[in-house]
Amino acid sequence: MLANKTIVLGITGSIASYKSADLASKLTQDGARVEVIMTESATRFISPITFRGVTSRPVVTSMWEMSSGFSIEHVALAEAADIIVIAPATADIIAKLANGIADDSLTCTVLATKAPVLIAPAMDTGMWRNSITQENVARLKTRDFTFIEPGYGHLASGCVGEGRLADIRIIIDTIRQILGRNGDMAGKRIVVTAGGTHEAIDPVRYIGNRSSGKMGFAVAEAARNRGAGVVLITGPTALPDPAGIEVIHIQTAIQMKKAVVKTVAKADVLIMAAAVADYMPKRQTTQKIKKTAAGRALTLDLVETPDILAEVKGGFLRVGFAAETEDIIENATRKLRNKQLDLIAANDVTASNSGFEVDTNRVTIISQDGKSEALPLMSKKEVAGRILDKVLKLLNGKPGAKGHTH
Ligand code: C5P
Repeated sequence: MLANKTIVLGITGSIASYKSADLASKLTQDGARVEVIMTESATRFISPITFRGVTSRPVVTSMWEMSSGFSIEHVALAEAADIIVIAPATADIIAKLANGIADDSLTCTVLATKAPVLIAPAMDTGMWRNSITQENVARLKTRDFTFIEPGYGHLASGCVGEGRLADIRIIIDTIRQILGRNGDMAGKRIVVTAGGTHEAIDPVRYIGNRSSGKMGFAVAEAARNRGAGVVLITGPTALPDPAGIEVIHIQTAIQMKKAVVKTVAKADVLIMAAAVADYMPKRQTTQKIKKTAAGRALTLDLVETPDILAEVKGGFLRVGFAAETEDIIENATRKLRNKQLDLIAANDVTASNSGFEVDTNRVTIISQDGKSEALPLMSKKEVAGRILDKVLKLLNGKPGAKGHTH
């Protein structure tokens, strides 16, 4: 995913710098070339040897060292960088950058680069909230600097407050978003639904299904990484909200429909990966239903939910999913026709490595003209990419949808 990308990772003197070893490792594992530059105080918290180990690259710690392989490091790395990430960033580095100070390798590199710069601050709450720090942040934000707000929680001082380094997952997500912002879906707006819905029976029980949300989240993240503006409407799921995506949480089919109607008007594409309940209880009792006499059956009256995909139409492409247990292609093709979809991704949810809950999927993508492409078993991430390839082809060939003005 990050193959052929050069990420310059700046590390400054914060106790959170130990987390950067994990960040450097994950970026390297994902194929990026990670060039680490440490400030002098960062080397007091964590050894450059750790970063050398996880990145298999020399680590720059000084302007005056001759052994690192770069002749003039700050110029070489400033030019090589696709992005510069400073994590953790202290109040001191933020102040220096906001004022154009260039007194070490990291500040020189940032001053010399044309690449976007991502800053993940970590510091004491007081330092972060200080108006001087906030003014420096505001100043940098007017240029090509993106900030990931620090999180709330336990701090090294023993206090609890704002100032923790953001989750490594959020930092990596944001790197992907920034690197992809000029991708082939730049300027496109996509609404994706994910997960299952919960249809309440009473205040403590619901009708749900096994959808984990993984397929929809993978589609949303893949679109974000290609430059699209993404709204993700999700039912209850264990997955954390992805960064760089507007996430709307809903519980029921009716709520999902409302959220889709509200967001899709400005969109180019609606991709419904959610497993929406087809039926909901006719009535929701306000009190918990009690057990009655032993052996007496309980009957629930169910009514149909709105079919969101069939009912929500406009100048956008509509893509559905069909989770099937038999006659997959026939059933999916019928749904494509009934709901007048542009594409449908059909999958057999009876296979253990495909469909609900797992990270892989085996789908067949069927288009309006009846043509189908059976994809082999692959990760949901890869499936998402293949679906988006087809969506993009349709978007580019459909003047109505492409000509959307926002
Ligand atoms: O008819 P079925 O539920 O199998 O159709 C699957 C497709 O329709 C999925 O894309 C699903 O998100 C969508 N759907 C919907 N509203 C419903 C039920 C399904 O939009 N009430």
